[in-house]
Amino acid sequence: MALSAEQIGHLVDAAAKARQHAYAPYSKYLVGAAVLAGSGSTYVGANVENAAFPSGMCAERVAVFDAIARGEREIKAVVVVTENGGAPCGACRQALAEFGLDADVILVDATCNISAQTTLRELLPRAFRPQDLPRR
Ligand code: THU
Repeated sequence: MALSAEQIGHLVDAAAKARQHAYAPYSKYLVGAAVLAGSGSTYVGANVENAAFPSGMCAERVAVFDAIARGEREIKAVVVVTENGGAPCGACRQALAEFGLDADVILVDATCNISAQTTLRELLPRAFRPQDLPRR
């Protein structure tokens, strides 16, 4: 979908604000994410690390899981703010793809500059999707 400049600005602000709440004392890599869902509502997430390292969670999955827990089933766009405009990890791509392979993905750095605008489909070619599970 074509996002307006206003929508992008709102999502960037929301993700940047969430990033301020990231809990990343181990990696020191703060990530904020904002998801635009089917209803038009925005959901945010920040990465949350843990002394037991694998128990942490990425910002994107915090945001998409909150959206789903609140009743959303479609994702239209995801904005991720990091120090350097880094892209979502593979596990986050997979989690997001379940709800919107055509979602726009906008990568933003700490100065709020957009470093890339792409889609989930481009980031996760030949994604494994619900329809790939044989019916039983
Ligand atoms: N991280 C995210 O929040 N999203 C990603 O897509 C990549 C990595 C977090 C996980 C960890 O807290 C830190 O960044 C360093 O990997």
